[in-house]
Amino acid sequence: MSLTKLNRALAEEIRNLESQGRKKPPERVIVAVKKPALDRGPRFYLYGAGKKGFICMNSNSYLGLGLCNELIRGEETAGRKFGVGPGAVRFISGTFRPHVDLENRLADFHDRDAAIIMGSAYSASLGVLSQLITESTLIISDELNHNCIINAMRLARPIGKMIYPHNNTADLEKKLNEAIEQPRVKRVIIVTDGIFSMRGDCAPLAKIKFLSEEYGTCFPEGVITVMDDSHGVGAFGKTGRGTEEHTGARADILIGTLGKAFGVNGGYAAASEEVIEYLRNTAPMYIFSNPISPGEAAAALAAIDLVDSHLGRELLTGLREKTRLFREGLKDAGFETFEGDHPVVPLLTRNTDLAHSISKHLFEHGVLASPIVYPVVPRGEEEIRFQVSAAHTEKDLRMVLKALRSFKGQ
Ligand SMILES: Cc1ncc(COP(=O)(O)O)c(C=O)c1O
Repeated sequence: MSLTKLNRALAEEIRNLESQGRKKPPERVIVAVKKPALDRGPRFYLYGAGKKGFICMNSNSYLGLGLCNELIRGEETAGRKFGVGPGAVRFISGTFRPHVDLENRLADFHDRDAAIIMGSAYSASLGVLSQLITESTLIISDELNHNCIINAMRLARPIGKMIYPHNNTADLEKKLNEAIEQPRVKRVIIVTDGIFSMRGDCAPLAKIKFLSEEYGTCFPEGVITVMDDSHGVGAFGKTGRGTEEHTGARADILIGTLGKAFGVNGGYAAASEEVIEYLRNTAPMYIFSNPISPGEAAAALAAIDLVDSHLGRELLTGLREKTRLFREGLKDAGFETFEGDHPVVPLLTRNTDLAHSISKHLFEHGVLASPIVYPVVPRGEEEIRFQVSAAHTEKDLRMVLKALRSFKGQ
């Protein structure tokens, strides 16, 4: 059957996206990466951009671990020992020693009974939520939660969905009171990002947890908090334990990624033995999809060991200092940003065209920084999302700030 008619329909859809300014620009192809040296952080070389090396301000690699020898060695050694791919799903013949060691290490790192790794944090969110949301579950979600949570809620069939305004715990409590009035609700799940990826702000986990415990007695299967802290784990808190460490509270089920601060790839959930065993037996994203490679698991293991060491503490301290320097620099240059300590530092343009112009100007000055516009952020909150890394040097960040000031001076 020919694709002619479908191609025509899809081309029309793409034209619609383009006319709304929502079509993605062509992807930039990285052809080489130069490791950090002295007062210069890593440099990225792009296809078609000649010999110019770019400072990358739009990577989630908050500690720059992806270029560290310990991780590269870990991946290489496991690759030589086990091969580069898992060959099958976990329960058939795809479970290798590094997968099991990594799960034990993650459980230990987050002080949980157990952990389960999945192909990505996206699939971990889908896997956890779609399995725990039953037909008698009410789900209550922050309005700015990541797309993986939104799609997990679409995949599940809850008895009801409620959305509370961003980080508004008074409204969350109102919704819990409304839920009490619904006798068929057996289980309530409150789901939130830990760090909100486009703003770098942090969920009020202590209050959310307090409410879940206070209202837990009102429902036969309690009120459970699920937090996706993909931008928090490894990058935030004194020792990289993320939003939980920063707020001093714990979610019942924690979801994280290995693909941001930990510098590798893959996702995971950490919780009680029972929850993890249940997911291992029921989550389709685990049962029917290959795991990360043994090499990736070994590299992630090396990343956690590194974060959890004296060097890791130093990297985190440096990251906090560099983030402060950059945020203050933005403000001094007259730009608007959100307050906070997380290395996501948005420059709010509140305007789509301005976001694109600043990004283009930065590109011409050797800086990669992404404009983030509707529908990824609400209208009026358009921004350039800067992401500071421990691998940046102070000199790099001052160069970026200088390029931004030169935009203002135009
Ligand atoms: C909150 C949140 N969850 C999940 C993801 C996806 O992570 P992964 O690439 O591991 O699927 C992201 C990435 O931006 C995120 O911000």
